[in-house]
Amino acid sequence: MADDKIILTGDRPTGKLHIGHYVGSLRNRVRIQNEGGFKNMYVFIADAQALTDNFDNPEKVRQNIIEVALDYLSVGLDPNKVTLFIQSQIPELTELTFYYSNLVTVARLQRNPTVKSEIALRGFGSEGDEQAFGSGIPVGFFTYPISQAADITAFKATDVPVGEDQKPMLEQAVEIVRSFNRIYGETLVEPKAVLPSNSACMRLPGTDGKAKMSKSLGNCIYLSETADEMHKKVMSMYTDPLHVNVSDPGHIEGNTVFTYLDAFCKPDDFGLYWPDFSSLDELKAAYEKGGIGDVKVKKFLEKILNAELEPIRQRRKEYEKDIPSVYEILKKGSERAEEAAAQTLSEVKKAMRIDYFNDRALIEEQARRYGD
Ligand code: TRP
Repeated sequence: MADDKIILTGDRPTGKLHIGHYVGSLRNRVRIQNEGGFKNMYVFIADAQALTDNFDNPEKVRQNIIEVALDYLSVGLDPNKVTLFIQSQIPELTELTFYYSNLVTVARLQRNPTVKSEIALRGFGSEGDEQAFGSGIPVGFFTYPISQAADITAFKATDVPVGEDQKPMLEQAVEIVRSFNRIYGETLVEPKAVLPSNSACMRLPGTDGKAKMSKSLGNCIYLSETADEMHKKVMSMYTDPLHVNVSDPGHIEGNTVFTYLDAFCKPDDFGLYWPDFSSLDELKAAYEKGGIGDVKVKKFLEKILNAELEPIRQRRKEYEKDIPSVYEILKKGSERAEEAAAQTLSEVKKAMRIDYFNDRALIEEQARRYGD
């Protein structure tokens, strides 16, 4: 990786992180962190963004900051290598958002596929629907792509590791950068999305086989849950409804257990846990032929998951013993992050010609004009 890269990404603190977050992004972040060779890496808790659709439930956001921070630290993000911070503690981000909002049309925001689908998902205004925006779409929610562009550009991020659903956000950020640079002169850096390479990782389904892991569907496996809790979930996972008897041919397509194996299984896992096979392709072929029971495949998956999650659970336990120090990490990180964002904001204000008090030429010219 080139040394001038700046990596940045974040998550909304609306719940504990699950294994979908892990394979979709967290695992990648830890790999990037450990490979090194970047200029800076930032990982942040997007509480201000979470408030755009949870403004009536600040306590939920507040309580989940520590959950996300513990999840970050427990997967192995290292505060000595990565700046961990809280979005709302960087006031420069809201200031940038305000200036960028001049560069975005209402129609463009309405076309943003992520915003569109989130609005469709929640509805807006149907009475009695707890999820719905009671009295219409809040402006803050509607414009959060602009705030996300501020998050990214404030740190001059070049690489943004995110899930596929965030691609439209990055596209919109790039448009804002181009338009800013065209109007005010070369100031901001164009970011690019870094997506997981494997499609199972890109969109890990819930344990019920539904499209996405979501807390409200109760189909998540959380990073912080115990091996016992996970055992129950793995054993009740959705597989292949046509695979009734062990001897029946099984189907891989849409079989959640195999999707999870695609996301988690490494070549060594066969030698360790199921030496009858030497690769996932071999296991899949045998399953399709018939004769492999679902419970066996689930037990194999469970072993693989436990091997990956156990060190994460252990590390979490350690950090849970000292919550004040976790907040201290976030505070230190937020201070560092603010310095970087303040630097960009001052460049932005200079480019926009609103840095009056630093603009000696402006003051002198006007003094001359009025002095004569
Ligand atoms: N929208 C992201 C999510 O829902 C969180 C986020 C906010 C983010 N700002 C960002 C991600 C900037 C990457 C870069 O998870």
